[in-house]
Parts: sequence; C-alpha cells; structure tokens
Amino acid sequence: MITAKDLTLEEKFLLLTGRDMWRLTNANGKLPEIFMCDGPSGLRMEILDENGEKTGTIPATAMPTISQLANSWNRETVYLNGKTIADEYVEHGAHINLAPGVNIKRSPLCGRNFEYFSEDPYLAGALSYEYIKGVQDKGIGTSLKHFCANNKESYRVSASSEVDERTLREIYLTPFEMALKAKPWTVMCSYNLINGVYASENKKLLKKVLRDEFGFNGVIMSDWGAVGNRYKALKATLDLQMPYHRCALPELKDAYEKGLITDEEIDYCVNNIIDLIYKCHSQNTKVEYTKEQRHQNAVEIAKEGVVMLKNDNDLLPIKGKKVMVVTADGPIPRIGGTGSANVSADFKFIKLCDLLQEKDPTGSYNPVYTLNPIYTQCAEVDAVLITCFAEAEGEAYDRTSLQISKFAIECIEEISKHNKNIILLVYAGSAIETGDWIDKVSSLIYCGYGGEGIDQALASIITGEVSPSGKLAETFPVSLDQASCKFNQINGFLEDYSEKLMVGYRYYDTYNKQVGFPFGYGLSYAKFEYSDMQIKKLGDTDFEVSYTITNTSKVDAKEVSQLYVKHILPRVIRPEKELKGFSKDLIKAGESKRITLKLDFRSFAYYNVSLDAWHVENATYEIMVGASSRDIKLTQKIKIERADETQNSTYTHIIGS
Ligand code: GLC
Repeated sequence: MITAKDLTLEEKFLLLTGRDMWRLTNANGKLPEIFMCDGPSGLRMEILDENGEKTGTIPATAMPTISQLANSWNRETVYLNGKTIADEYVEHGAHINLAPGVNIKRSPLCGRNFEYFSEDPYLAGALSYEYIKGVQDKGIGTSLKHFCANNKESYRVSASSEVDERTLREIYLTPFEMALKAKPWTVMCSYNLINGVYASENKKLLKKVLRDEFGFNGVIMSDWGAVGNRYKALKATLDLQMPYHRCALPELKDAYEKGLITDEEIDYCVNNIIDLIYKCHSQNTKVEYTKEQRHQNAVEIAKEGVVMLKNDNDLLPIKGKKVMVVTADGPIPRIGGTGSANVSADFKFIKLCDLLQEKDPTGSYNPVYTLNPIYTQCAEVDAVLITCFAEAEGEAYDRTSLQISKFAIECIEEISKHNKNIILLVYAGSAIETGDWIDKVSSLIYCGYGGEGIDQALASIITGEVSPSGKLAETFPVSLDQASCKFNQINGFLEDYSEKLMVGYRYYDTYNKQVGFPFGYGLSYAKFEYSDMQIKKLGDTDFEVSYTITNTSKVDAKEVSQLYVKHILPRVIRPEKELKGFSKDLIKAGESKRITLKLDFRSFAYYNVSLDAWHVENATYEIMVGASSRDIKLTQKIKIERADETQNSTYTHIIGS
C-alpha cells in the first residue's frame, strides 16, 4: 500500500483529476485503476477504447427512477434496488455508482426531479441512506450528490443559490446529513454557487460543514466539469476533479510554484484518493443475480412505487371485463428521464394490453391505434384505460409545464362523452397537475418513471393481484401557478430561495393552500383504521410513539403511516408540520398491526442561527399520525421542558413585572 509520499509531484497532480471521463490514473502503475459511472437507475457504463474514447454503452437493467422509488416509502425496497444495481457494477468491473441524488424538490419544474427523492428532507435522507447501504453492502461505492442546493437545471453552472443559513441547514443539508450515516465513499459537489461561492471552491460547505461537522471522511469529487480553478478547489478540500481536465496540471503546477498550495494540502487530497482506490479493490464482491432475477427485482420494486390517486366506485381492480387500451403517447412506456441517469436497457418489451390479458384471461383488453372513430366505440366497452406521459424530464433543462400531453387530454375529453369508466395511467418523473381533467376520469394511477418492469407491475395492480401501496413523496399542486415555488430567478446568476423553509407541504399546509394531491397521499384496495395512540417519554427529547392499524377489508395490503410533529406557539417561524417518521407495513385482511416509531432531539429541533446550533425549545408539541399530510388519524400533545441555559428567559422576567 502506498501513500502520497511515494508519488512524484506530477503523479500527485495527475491523480487529482480524472484520467478520462470515468477512470483515474494509476500513477505510473503504482496504483490499481478504478472505474466510476452513473447512475441512480442502473449501470450506465461506457465502453472506452485505449484513448479513453467512448465506443458504446453496456446494456443494463433499467430500474425505477429515484422519484418512483421514493413513492414506495419502503426502506427495504430502496435497499434491494441499491443491491440490484450494484450487482451489475460487480459483473462489469465498475467500482463506484455516481448516485444517489438527494437534492430537494424545491420546484415541481426542476428537470431532474425524477432523480431526487422528495420535497421533504427527512424522507429524502431516510431513503437515500437505504440506497447507499444497498449499493455499498455489495462492495460498490456511491457518490452522494449534488452537494448542495442544486435544485434547478437552468443556469446550473452559473447561478448562485441564495439561501439563508437556517433554510440551508433544515431543508437542503439535512438529507445529506442523514445519508452520510450510511458512510458513502464519495460526495459529489454541485455545479452551482451557494451564496456567491462555487460549490467546488466553497470551503465553508466542503470543509467546515461536510467534513468537520458532518464527519465525512471520504473523497469529495466534483460534478463533471464543475471545477473552475483546480487549485482553488484543492484549497477548499475538493479531492478529485472529474472528468480529466487538461488545465488541471498547469494550474496546479503554477499554484505550487507561486506557493498558493502546500504539500500538506496536496497530500491530504491525494491520500483521500489513494484510500478510495484501495477501498475499491479490497471488497469481497460477487455477482448474486441473473439478468432475469434483476428484471424481476425491477418489477417488484416498481410495484411498491405505483400510486393510486383516484378510484371512484372501486372501478379498480378490474377483471373479466371488456377494456379498451388507449396508449395516447405510444405503446412503449416512458421508464426514465434523459441525461446521465439514462440506462440503455435491453429488456424485452411487451405491450401493456398483452400483459393485462395474460394476468386476466377472463377479461378482454383491446389496444386501439386509430383514435378518431374509436371515440364512439368506447360506449361498447366496460372501461377505457388510457396511458400517457407528461412533459419529458431530463438533465440540463427544466420543465415548463406540469400538464400531461395534449393528446391525452383530448382523449379524456372525447372518451368521457361516451364512457365514464376511464382509468388513466400517467408515466411521469415528478409532480403533474390534474385540475383540468381529474373530474373526467374514474381512476388515476401515477406510475412514476418505473423502469423496465413498470408495465408488469401495473398489470398486477390493475387486475388486483396486488394492491397499490405507493404514496406521493412530493405534493401535486392544483396547478403550476399555485405551486409553492416556480423558481425565483433574478437573472442567470441568481436564484433567490425567498420561500425559505416553506417548501412543498410545508408551504401548502402552513398557509392552508389547496393542493391537487397532498404529500404522503395514496389509495389502496384495502381500508385501514388507525387507533390507540400511546406516547412514552424516554428522555428530555426522546419519545416512543405507538399506534395500531387495522385492515378492515378483505384484501391484504401495505399501508404507509406517517409521523408529523408540530411546534405549538414557537418563538421562530416554523412550518405547520414536519415529517419525522414513517413506516410501511403489510397488514393482512382483517388483521391489526402495532407500530412503534421513535422521536429524538432532531425530531423537535430547528436550526437556531443566533445560537448557530440545532435547538429544541421548551414548548408544547403536537404529535400526529397520518395516512397522508392532510389525513391525520391520531394526535396527542406532549410538553418538552429542558433545564438548559439556551432556553429563552420568560418575558415576565424581562419586563420586570
Ligand atoms: C452530470 C451530472 C452528474 C453525473 C455526472 C457524470 O453532469 O450532473 O449527476 O453523475 O455528470 O455523468
């Protein structure tokens, strides 16, 4: 094993930037090589020639996107997803998966929302933790990204995210802080500036916060092309500039000769990279799944993230009926977004109507291709199933609308004149608006970008083999103009986070705004009753909350229950409620399950910028258990009284009365 002292200065400098798009140098043979590649929904590994030029991409299993995963609210599902992806990295000799992205879905328009978990920091942190564990337990590294406040795609390399300290800590850094407990091997810094300093040169965030406060001791790498000047990034402790950049060597040599960077600073980053290289090569990795097993995992995982948003008259599940299948935007589902998260999947595509027919031989599922005459024929079938897309989502651009396709809206309008039993399936990566047409459909299934297994998952759900169990990890606004944030771009250099803490349901619930579908919402074929909430105090700010859920239906199903905390009469502005726990549980027909969740200091804390620390105020707090953020089933108040000097003096004392 070598360290920085065994390398020449030039070998060190060359190690501080990539060898090409995906690999590091081997320091003239002194080190083994490592290969890193995207991405969040599966292996995107380019085949490189001896010059490092791309000659192709290895086909891989297209798993659900991160946003569809998040709608599962299922820790085990997210863990299995990580394991399944990592299995393909092992098979093809890649060492680091450049994922997961945990940026907060501040605006529903962000083009990469399909690559992110949620509008809520707690949910994003808890699920990204599982993703990292799933990948790294297979001996493959991860890259927690994009650090930080990278919440839109337009002007991502030039705009400064102007965000106040409290908002930064409570909303945008918390997912990273929680995910870091899974010890990701690397963190990827973002392109943007944060409060006027590029992420790649932001010593306060990279060194003071990420390393010293959060305890991260792995490699900080740049996003691809996110380093402005290599020596400035080095001084901020950015270890690795990716990809290879021809300016890195001359910039580092020049800075060294001018005394702008020291041997100590150089060796610190070089040793971090050497440690990473050895870590990649010291794992006991083995391939666990066949291609078919990975595909089956993709199907099972996709099932967990499908969200049923409407189901009037229990139209679904449907069996033994005559169903017309209208694939408004084409028979091939949109299974992911474009850009670095794209996976070149080589799965054998089967039409949804064929999958439905196979699942339900007693029914008849007829695809239609030419629509004009069909509208009138729709009266002759029991139900019409329409599939459609929303505006395409991808890296480097943001959406301009939350609407589904115009053609899909036309189909809904026309078909609803002849048949009221419309089942709409939407393939999308982030929030959609439904106000214009929701009254014209009986059932609405939000598929997400569900990977190669999505249509098999849908066939199981639509025919009732399994109940839908997904719930929204982001609010669907009534319409774009009522969204909590549509970006607040002052110019190409400034994005003002003026909404502060009021992101997503924090905004809608605090200001009592109408929404299309609330955060945490999703329907089931089963019916659940919540009862018998008990709260046990374990310490100053430690509590155990337990409650019972009973499945009163005849259908086995999973239920996602959510735990929210509300600070009563706070001395600072706080959102109406904040998610601080959740559980997804299979509850068989007619059975009950007792669920217990824990609350701790950070469940009650806010970031106090006067104390420059997380702080729990002595006060009354309302503990709420809900089936969604707007369907609170159980609630109880508790008091916190901590005898510590950081508590405010009482005002009676101050006025001397
Ligand atoms: C891209 C993305 C990042 C990705 C990297 C490598 O620009 O921002 O998420 O991992 O470059 O493709």
